[in-house]
Amino acid sequence: MPASGPTPGTPRIPRHVAVIMDGNGRWAERRHRPRAIGHRAGARAVNTCIDFCLAHGIGALTLFAFSSENWGRPEDEVGALMKLFLNALDREVEELHRRGVRVRFIGQRDRFGPALVERMRAAEELTGGNTQLALNIAASYGGHWDIAQAARSLAREVAAGRLDPEAIDEALLGERVCLADLPAPDLFIRTGGEQRISNFLLWQLAYSELWFTDALWPELDAATLQRALDDFASRERRYGLTGAQVAGRPEETPE
Ligand code: FPP
Repeated sequence: MPASGPTPGTPRIPRHVAVIMDGNGRWAERRHRPRAIGHRAGARAVNTCIDFCLAHGIGALTLFAFSSENWGRPEDEVGALMKLFLNALDREVEELHRRGVRVRFIGQRDRFGPALVERMRAAEELTGGNTQLALNIAASYGGHWDIAQAARSLAREVAAGRLDPEAIDEALLGERVCLADLPAPDLFIRTGGEQRISNFLLWQLAYSELWFTDALWPELDAATLQRALDDFASRERRYGLTGAQVAGRPEETPE
């Protein structure tokens, strides 16, 4: 899928959906169960979401699985999440590969243990040629980190004498942030009732349509995702232009 800038107007089906999967802990607490059980239920909802994207021809799905800030959670919860990620990779990657899903991880990979890093590498290698769905897992990811790493990579080129600082513009920085080879997310979905971006894809979400639901992530079903898609299809994306410009009709001038 080629990288592309904003195109006024709205494709009916988003090319790229980005999701904050929030509410696992509350889902478990409401059932008087440990938070780790909520994350396990959340892993099942990940499959619901992938199935939906494949069925609807959505080309890319980016899931916020673990933020830079999540390392600060209680040790047992972080441990349970690491075990869950490891098991999910062992269990799901072959099937994802069979279904034509390309799996990629974005974030500070070196913060994870060697077993997980190796599983990530192997999953990316196995699925690298697939084209049905680009599934990006943001793990130990933060939007601030992403922009900083992009700036650092340009700074290295300036220091090496290969790049004139005056040549640095939005396009050049945009080529260095994560997922630069994909269209920016058309649609951002957050479950769990909070209405914020929480240091997710800060650069990439500049023109995304935002959609929030009170449903907790483990409750996610195809009907909820369809509501998000229907709402998305009704939006007019203007990218700073006027409604008339986007529709290709003459501006209305007052009498
Ligand atoms: C946020 O809910 C969720 C997380 C920090 C973890 C997300 C992980 C999964 C959905 C599990 C599996 C993922 C993959 C990719 C296999 P929260 O714990 O902050 O919920 P709360 O706001 O109710 O406390």
